[in-house]
Amino acid sequence: MEIVLYQPQIGYYSCGKTRTGTKGDFLTPVSTGPLLGRIIALQIAEIHQALNSPPSLHLVEQGADRGHLAHDILSAISLDHPHLLPKLQLHLIEPSPSLAQQQKNHLQSLHPLPPLHWHGDLSCLPPASQPTFFYSCELIDSFPVRLIRFSSGQWLERFVTQTSNQLDWIDQPASPELLNEIRRWSIPPIEGFSTEIRPSVSPWLKLLSEKIRQGAILTLDYGLPAQELYHPSRLGGTLRALRQHSPSAHPLADPGQQDLTAHVNFTELVEEGKKLGFHSHGLLPFMTALPRQATPLLQESPTMPEKLTRNFQHLIHPSFFGQSHLALLQTKNLPDSYRPSMFSC
Ligand SMILES: C[S@@+](CC[C@H](N)C(=O)[O-])C[C@H]1O[C@@H](n2cnc3c(N)ncnc32)[C@H](O)[C@@H]1O
Repeated sequence: MEIVLYQPQIGYYSCGKTRTGTKGDFLTPVSTGPLLGRIIALQIAEIHQALNSPPSLHLVEQGADRGHLAHDILSAISLDHPHLLPKLQLHLIEPSPSLAQQQKNHLQSLHPLPPLHWHGDLSCLPPASQPTFFYSCELIDSFPVRLIRFSSGQWLERFVTQTSNQLDWIDQPASPELLNEIRRWSIPPIEGFSTEIRPSVSPWLKLLSEKIRQGAILTLDYGLPAQELYHPSRLGGTLRALRQHSPSAHPLADPGQQDLTAHVNFTELVEEGKKLGFHSHGLLPFMTALPRQATPLLQESPTMPEKLTRNFQHLIHPSFFGQSHLALLQTKNLPDSYRPSMFSC
């Protein structure tokens, strides 16, 4: 998964081709229009206010694709919270030079623009002495997973091998490290049960936490709490290959030409975040969280233009992103009294 998605220049994401949106292989909440950016801008303004309006706030996005969400957020801040713009600095974490260039091109159309910074890796982001708001949409589902499978009374790890001219699975006994994870999440030992473990989440969150002394992490992605993700009924796991807006038959087919993704274990984010001093708000599906945050925007324009109405429906309708996608806000060193409106009744 690491190689086919991220091998420099030839990986599915690193080659610079359009992957999201109608011309790509799949839609994301960002592709539905600018409303998500306006909602996040409101969340940013709320955090800024909760912090007693500090003179500077760092925004960080990882996995920004062509920069559409960052563009929508900055446009919304210019429009809805102009006092905030001079206080912002935007950092984009982007290993692909081609995507970084596309992000630059897209963001340069905005005036005025806060200072922009690009970093090839999260480790290059300077530890922020100022408050930081980190956000991502459909980032973690694209972090590589390890596959496990219970068969004939033991847990196996699925590796990939090459037989003649094609890739195939090869199963080997799971390592003690994986067995620990299997115990941690109480993954049911049911014959044929296959699922995924994502080893990079904990080190990633630890690194991110070192960069955020005070602030918040907003995660928007598809996934489930561990109990549901590893429920006995989810026998085949959640690894999916996607191409041209349809699931592809085989994850090993056409390496580098199709997306590979698996659900996020949100319990892991909450538990690991807690160890690092983050307080979790949510977890809620878009259909519950976003209308709360969008209400002031909708009240401002009671006769919403048709495009915005459609955008809103796509975000919250259960058959689009409303049910599958969850929102989690994790805050660190914010006043105890702070209650994010996205998650308050
Ligand atoms: C499913 S796409 C989502 C793109 C965009 N955020 C959206 O919602 O439309 C996942 C993105 O995350 C990026 N990504 C995955 N791992 C990353 C990492 N470690 N650092 C930066 N970007 C990463 C991929 O390159 C890809 O652009």
